[in-house]
Amino acid sequence: MAAQVLVVGSANVDLAVKAERRPQGGETVLGADTEVLPGGKGANTAVAAAKLGADVALVGAVGDDSFGTLLLESLRDSGVRADHVRTVDRPTGVAYITVTPDGENSILVSPGANRALCPEAVAAALPGARVLVASMEVPLSTVEHALVSAKEAGVRTVLNLSPVAEVAEQALSGLDVLLVNQHEAAWLLGAEPVDAMRLLELGPKAAVVTKGASGAVVVTGEGSSEIRAPKVEAVDTTGAGDAFAGAFSTALARGANIVDAATSGVKVATMSVRRRGAQPSYPNAAELE
Ligand code: RIB
Ligand code: NA
Repeated sequence: MAAQVLVVGSANVDLAVKAERRPQGGETVLGADTEVLPGGKGANTAVAAAKLGADVALVGAVGDDSFGTLLLESLRDSGVRADHVRTVDRPTGVAYITVTPDGENSILVSPGANRALCPEAVAAALPGARVLVASMEVPLSTVEHALVSAKEAGVRTVLNLSPVAEVAEQALSGLDVLLVNQHEAAWLLGAEPVDAMRLLELGPKAAVVTKGASGAVVVTGEGSSEIRAPKVEAVDTTGAGDAFAGAFSTALARGANIVDAATSGVKVATMSVRRRGAQPSYPNAAELE
């Protein structure tokens, strides 16, 4: 049976180091021990959805190396279907992450195998999907192709435009939901403060702007709604946006409306910042209760 949530995106091994501050150009800073964790925006989104009980598959690529094996194992352990994750002749993607005491992160990604994720990889995984959620760190042509072919197949589409990039008009027009954070929204609109309503001028039917500790705003043709986030102590915000994307897409696939889906996204993302790492910090359905 096909997966109801189909994720198209990256898989990386996260090499995460806690440090008092991030190094500047020409500077060396000593940090804590390296943590080796499964990550990547696509894999994180898929794992967040699977932990909530979704039937989810990832379309992705890893290398023929130990990091690739680690990622495939962690996907399967979390309940993500990995039969559309290809093993290619490039090193597995790696993310070099610095986490400071305020829970903030900075990330340098070496995409490696993710750059070999070709548009053709999507077609075989599409039949039976209800929601397709794509994120960046994989070739733009693959993301655009995935969105256009999902739309043609009557599958609802969500684009988590992270890291932000210029996307073809064709892929944005008719997109069901554009999902961005405030920085990404400001970049897209070329203006601050962000007027979320203006994102609809780019073509999507709805847009969600996530605002970290301040929650999220949902805009549709009918108007806008604010969703507040509960107050928590942030330990590590890495992958909070991906947690949102996974929970949001799961709720949509289960028939929720956009505001209720975004409310679930905010809840899951907020829980994730209280624990270290991305995937290991995502709550399961029981914890969410
Ligand atoms: O969004 C967080 C993710 O970004 C990390 O897991 C890292 O791999 C990068 O893709
Ligand atoms: Na976290």
